[in-house]
Amino acid sequence: MEARRETVTFRVFRYIPGDGEKGFRSYTLEVPEGTTVLEALHIIKEQHDPTLAWRSSCRMGVCGSCGMLINGEPRLACQTQVLHLGSKVVELRPMANYPVTRDLVPDLSSLFSKHAAISPHILRPDQREVDSPTGEFIQSPAELESYLQFSYCIKCGLCLAACPTVATDPDFLGPQALAQAYRYSADTRDGGLDSRRGVLDRFHGVFQCHMAGACSAACPKGVDPAFAIQLLKREVVLRGLGKRRRRLARVSPLPSEHVPSEKIPAAPPRTA
Ligand code: FES
Repeated sequence: MEARRETVTFRVFRYIPGDGEKGFRSYTLEVPEGTTVLEALHIIKEQHDPTLAWRSSCRMGVCGSCGMLINGEPRLACQTQVLHLGSKVVELRPMANYPVTRDLVPDLSSLFSKHAAISPHILRPDQREVDSPTGEFIQSPAELESYLQFSYCIKCGLCLAACPTVATDPDFLGPQALAQAYRYSADTRDGGLDSRRGVLDRFHGVFQCHMAGACSAACPKGVDPAFAIQLLKREVVLRGLGKRRRRLARVSPLPSEHVPSEKIPAAPPRTA
């Protein structure tokens, strides 16, 4: 059976530094079923306009490079099928809340500097043991579950593009960095909350979140940064009062469609 094909017009935001003009250009393509927005961009570049720029790498929703606004929604271009949008016109714009480098390419410096600011790694007081371990850092499955789903962030930046607080306060740390601050602070191997509090417990920090929830709706990996931020607020308040949480937070695992496959194919039977 022939694949369904439809004629779709792509309204693509164009901006070339130095040219001054910003605006949209339209390209019309015959699109077969299964074509992603990223594949459509490659066709436009090859057949219509070699000057068009965007960022992508893996083409499989892993590297986090191809975030953009697709018909106004922050999405990954490689994970969005054109005909599933149900629209004869598809508008492509660079992600909101970032400066534009060129066309669909955002400048992600703010995303990465905010992420770096929360020390996104295990911090321990016993550095000698980290450098020369004498044993394992044991963690139970329940302790792992209490932060695991937040660790699937691919740093695509779509959550910041969706966040209404970042839109009005560009210095707000934002959902990506705050969710990762919780991911590490909730890890029983970590002892870094006190040193992270310096960036979390201030005006542009965790309490600036108004809990719109747009970040969790935008995450292409099913991570729930809005929930991580609320858990982080509790941790920061308790620590400010000189207390510690007594029980592990109950965190849902990722929705099944987002859980990475961990099945290792069985080895073929030995024949000799
Ligand atoms: Fe890697 Fe889309 S190209 S996530």
